[in-house]
Amino acid sequence: MRTTIAAATALALLALAGSARAETPLLEEFMRDYTFLLIFLSLVGAVIGFAFLWATGALPQVLLSTWAWLDERFALRRYASLARREYYSVVFTLLPASGRTFPQSHTERYNVKAVWYWYPFYCLGGLSFLAFIILTITGIYLGFYYVPDGDFVEGADGEMTSGAYESMELIMTEVSFGYIMRAVHHWAAHFMVAAVFLHMMRVYFVGAYRNPRELNWILGSILLMVTIFFGYTGYLLPWDELGFAAGSIGLEMATSIPAMGPPMAQLVFGGTQLTGTTVLRMYWLHVFVLPAVGIALMVLHMALVWIQGEAEPH
Ligand code: HEM
Repeated sequence: MRTTIAAATALALLALAGSARAETPLLEEFMRDYTFLLIFLSLVGAVIGFAFLWATGALPQVLLSTWAWLDERFALRRYASLARREYYSVVFTLLPASGRTFPQSHTERYNVKAVWYWYPFYCLGGLSFLAFIILTITGIYLGFYYVPDGDFVEGADGEMTSGAYESMELIMTEVSFGYIMRAVHHWAAHFMVAAVFLHMMRVYFVGAYRNPRELNWILGSILLMVTIFFGYTGYLLPWDELGFAAGSIGLEMATSIPAMGPPMAQLVFGGTQLTGTTVLRMYWLHVFVLPAVGIALMVLHMALVWIQGEAEPH
């Protein structure tokens, strides 16, 4: 009975959404105007809920019963203690000869109480990752409205324009919080490039690239290139004057390479001229290829830090 009611409700909602879409772009408009507001209100609601529970003193009880409810069904406590044990003994279990039980930071191992002036720089890898997460979230939001169409057409005002440029205008002027999302995406990209570069310098100056971390240094170098390429492909996407100029420079550089140049330009720019295909290629690289490669490399990079641990300062 319950299943039938749920299925009927789902069908009715689908039909409603479908009819709204067919007659007027209601759903589209609703999303454009309110998605971010709804997310924001849900977050505010969650914070107010927590504050209320905390003020009335009911928070510990609610957290405990939620934990007990989940634990009863998914044996969370057993998995948590198993994970903790494995986390601290993985290197010792796999490589007993190394005698290391990682991760143990420098401060943990030597029970150092003072904050050494180098330590804040050890946050830079984590900050690069945080910037990547912010870029992913804001990028997903922008992706709802961005159109990867770089073909030039005559606009209503007689000026040449493109679907890509118009969608950026829409994001900046119509979409609720669109300009903020774009600005956060833009500045987080700058922040990530700077953080990755400074992280690399920290690793270099404390000598952490040496044996046994050579492979992680190489992985990191590839990650630096991925980060810069991320920035370049994103810079082209608005297909405005700056993007087009950057595209011309990149294309000239690629095609000036003997033999390899033209096939590389074909692959990355979709030809030896800047066309609508260029924008589509950049979009595909920016939202699929680079995230897939970047995430895989970041996971591997951080897994190696976990297995090998932080280097002793030299
Ligand atoms: C997307 C870019 C990157 C991310 C997200 C990232 C993330 C991290 C994190 C979280 C750590 C743990 C220690 C810390 O935070 O400093 C780390 C360590 C390390 N990273 Fe990166 N990293 C990136 C790029 C690079 C680059 C460009 C290099 C060098 C070319 C590099 C080489 C290393 C090495 C050798 C370690 C081990 C350091 C030690 O043991 O003290 N990483 N990375």
